[in-house]
Amino acid sequence: MSRFHALIPAAGSGSRMGGVLPKQYLELKGLPLIAHALIALAREPRIDRLVVVLSPDDAWWGNYDWSGWQDRMQVLRCGGAARAGTVLNGLQAMAEWCAADDWVLVHDAARPCLPGEALGRLLDIAADDAVGGLLAVPVADTLKRADAGCRVEVTVPRAGLWQAQTPQMFRHGMLRDALRAAGDDMTDEASAIERMGLHPCLVECDSRNLKVTYPQDLRLASLILEHLND
Ligand code: C5P
Repeated sequence: MSRFHALIPAAGSGSRMGGVLPKQYLELKGLPLIAHALIALAREPRIDRLVVVLSPDDAWWGNYDWSGWQDRMQVLRCGGAARAGTVLNGLQAMAEWCAADDWVLVHDAARPCLPGEALGRLLDIAADDAVGGLLAVPVADTLKRADAGCRVEVTVPRAGLWQAQTPQMFRHGMLRDALRAAGDDMTDEASAIERMGLHPCLVECDSRNLKVTYPQDLRLASLILEHLND
């Protein structure tokens, strides 16, 4: 039986937030964002281990009490210059104890409001899929492509377009091979899998599963968290 593990890349600097504190450590309801991401993943009993990948020079992780997490969590300090490198380094370190056909759910440290029912649905659906899959949301707004002067160049038809979220769930061996072949410019794991000519399945989630990117996102995340698993 294949097992399920979560890998949380947390080696980013969060430059779009401004400030020096990497965004995974911004405080939300008394906890760093990454703790909320871990809590959401840990609520799913089918997930065996949680692997956090930090930057080698991370100076913040040790400021928090993680003692309750030791049985289930592994912390690695092998983050890369880009997200894809962080994930690949984590997968390589996991190879010591993880089987090639175990499932790995890669989840952003800066997504604190992952709904439990969506996570469960991803496991139910993607585990039966030959490729794997990801949470995503059908695009609701009309899309415009801008020119260099910030004027509308063209309206892009939104039919069939989805916004990719995380977790993104693939077999350990397949994802490692895909990321090795793809290089560092992939902004998500599914892109690397697609480059191999494969088609991950899209599992519908919603806008609660936002990625905190800009300062105003923190307030929104706080409001969402209050009613997340009502
Ligand atoms: O910057 P962005 O919002 O794309 O980051 C998404 C996730 O990838 C965050 O959890 C961030 O910490 C992580 N990341 C990483 N290593 C990098 C860059 C980003 O682990 N070099």
